[in-house]
Amino acid sequence: MCGIVGYVGGAGASERPLEVVLEGLRRLEYRGYDSAGVALVVPGGRLATAKKAGKLANLVAELDTHPLPPATAAIGHTRWATHGGPTDANAHPHVSGDVAVIHNGIVENFATLKAELVADGVEFASETDTEVVAHLVAREHARSQDLTAALTTVSRRLEGTFTLLAVHADAPDTVVGARHDSPLVVGLGDGENFLGSDVAAFIGSTRDALELGQDQVVTITPTSVTVTDLDGNPVEATPFRVDWDTEAAEKGGFGSFMDKEIHDQPHAVADTLLGRTDAAGHLVLDELRIDEAVLRAVDKIVVVACGTAAYAGHVAKYAIEHWCRIPVEVELAHEFRYRDPVVDERTLVVAISQSGETMDTLMAVRHAREQGATTLAIVNTHGSTIPRESDAVLYTHAGPEIAVASTKAFLSQITAAYLLGLFLAQLRGNKFPDEIASTLEELRAMPDKIQEVLDRSGRVREIARWMADTQSVLFLGRHVGYPIALEGALKLKELAYIHAEGFAAGELKHGPIALIEPGQPVFVVVPSPRGRHSLHSKVVSNIQEIRARGARTIVIAEDGDEAVRPYADEVFSVPQCPTLLAPLLTVVPLQVFACELATAKGLDVDQPRNLAKSVTVE
Ligand code: F6R
Repeated sequence: MCGIVGYVGGAGASERPLEVVLEGLRRLEYRGYDSAGVALVVPGGRLATAKKAGKLANLVAELDTHPLPPATAAIGHTRWATHGGPTDANAHPHVSGDVAVIHNGIVENFATLKAELVADGVEFASETDTEVVAHLVAREHARSQDLTAALTTVSRRLEGTFTLLAVHADAPDTVVGARHDSPLVVGLGDGENFLGSDVAAFIGSTRDALELGQDQVVTITPTSVTVTDLDGNPVEATPFRVDWDTEAAEKGGFGSFMDKEIHDQPHAVADTLLGRTDAAGHLVLDELRIDEAVLRAVDKIVVVACGTAAYAGHVAKYAIEHWCRIPVEVELAHEFRYRDPVVDERTLVVAISQSGETMDTLMAVRHAREQGATTLAIVNTHGSTIPRESDAVLYTHAGPEIAVASTKAFLSQITAAYLLGLFLAQLRGNKFPDEIASTLEELRAMPDKIQEVLDRSGRVREIARWMADTQSVLFLGRHVGYPIALEGALKLKELAYIHAEGFAAGELKHGPIALIEPGQPVFVVVPSPRGRHSLHSKVVSNIQEIRARGARTIVIAEDGDEAVRPYADEVFSVPQCPTLLAPLLTVVPLQVFACELATAKGLDVDQPRNLAKSVTVE
């Protein structure tokens, strides 16, 4: 959590450092919005800082009333509070003498370090763990007169997770950064350079970037970028080009990022499929970099993920087991590593994560590797930690997901998992090539079908607005519709703060049916009547059972499914497609519903209360 930006450049002192940092913070605000702050290096050997509790707008208002002078370098921070409440005093930067520091992560040994500093007579101005770092860096700098050396030495003493940026009043053209288990990328400009928690921080200025590895320190000046390890040894950073543009990081005319991202979904799915087949229609996933013999020998797949990403894993389970005949378990990442899981060299552990930074998922990956498993990351954010620590990565191409609650990343995660399943089936000969080719063809048709669902979403919005006062909503689904019911409930909880539960429809009679009382709204995701199993008729029976007890039934069904109509108060129909691919369509009305209902309640759908986009603490 927390977003950080650093900048050096421009010819001499100017407004640009502050402008760049504020622009970066605006794009990173999804990472936390408890407070925001900046520190500028001002000619004449001094620092100028401003920080405010609350959203970035509070800091901007403060800067309007009390403007800061032109500068040569700047750092900025947007906070998701861990140690110390969301107050002005706890906002970053933290300053000690001529040093200012910002931090993303948690310094776990801060109490010991603080005791040492207090014994030395240092007085603390905040309750944060970060302030310890500012004092330590100032003390080291007093010895070495070298900011890079000071931050490197201090980083070696820290336990926990951190990305740190530091500036010093006497180093007008320098920002130094260090990272351990938290993200940091470098943006390369012409006569200027950037640091950011992710590329959104500098996407308005450059698309040329460098990935930093674990435990590395970076020093940027307007004309140089130097990277070392924590022992000061030079390290080569990996360059990459960002394939997002500024427009992708803006709202594009929609009322919220969430609404825009829901509408981005046809592209997110199409882009994730792009370039992954050869001229003959075979799946080519060269980027996997895992020995084919290892993949052929896999006898179990374990998906580790959290929240929405875990529901993508649940969908993947149905598809991969069906196509590859390999058992697939889906495990919440935070449960996995504390459970003594049975994994070995023949297990493929697939970590699904939009941010690539979720600490629970990262820890699960590490645990899996320690047990000898092969790890594969399905991740959206380049330069993030989970892919770097996994044996292989399959990137989703959803583009930047700014709204805190996940939508387009979810669809692209499911798509990438389908590609993985089909690739394994191809490799292991579970399916004939023409079967794989025809499923890929169906998959390539999905973006247009998703667009069709979006084009029909007017009625969903209408119903959502009518239901703005609803207190409780239930969601039922079966087979691949079950994780979609769970996701529909999660979206409603987190966006609209409405009590919502998802159930497997078959479970209804085993307890949840007791919740049904007259007027209770229940969404039901209905399987295709064209499916091989008799699931459709079973779910239709479930609808009858709850309707008989007074439920208000809102049904997501396939085009042409007339059997549900007599029992549905409302039907949202979606185009026909193969059963296993249906989640890409059936979840869309549920996302639109939650977004519209929350908007009707006047809530901030992009930044729901208490949440942060990337959960980089356990
Ligand atoms: C819900 C949501 C979260 C994330 C979860 C994992 O809308 O966004 O449940 O899916 O925190 O995040 P990533 O995918 O970044 O690992």
